[in-house]
Amino acid sequence: MNAPLTLSDATRARFDREVAKYPPEQKQSAVMACLSIVQQEQGHVSHAAEVAIADYLGMAPVAVQEVTTFYNMYNQKPVGQYKLNVCTNLPCQLRGGQDALEHVCQRLGVHKGETTADGAITVQESECLGACADAPVLLVNDRQMLSYMSHDKLDRLLDKLQGAAKKGA
Ligand code: FES
Repeated sequence: MNAPLTLSDATRARFDREVAKYPPEQKQSAVMACLSIVQQEQGHVSHAAEVAIADYLGMAPVAVQEVTTFYNMYNQKPVGQYKLNVCTNLPCQLRGGQDALEHVCQRLGVHKGETTADGAITVQESECLGACADAPVLLVNDRQMLSYMSHDKLDRLLDKLQGAAKKGA
């Protein structure tokens, strides 16, 4: 098992601000915020970071890990500059979700879960994103939802992201 990460003073200060939003006996409610802070700072949430958060919040490490693994938005390993989550849940499956995922993987020469060799784009499949009527849908970097993603739209998106990655945007 990895040793826990040593949290910097700046990170601890950010955690403290989140914990202050809850009564002391409920400080574990800040776990998602703490995970988000670590991911913002490090790009992913390592097991060592989970242990450090657990220690900080007085939780069992496995309870933190359950949160990390439940939500798509937490990266359990380093990801590319752009992370694409293509929904392949059943309603989207019935309207081209799997086909969209396969098209993206084929265009980029990766399997799902992998990152392109230049580190630009990671492709993942996703659970329901709450926009089933707009399938195929995907989420960019956990923030931007894109709908009705035909092969043409996917190609344009990939061209744009690859161009932006080259420019370092
Ligand atoms: S099943 Fe894909 S958004 Fe709901």
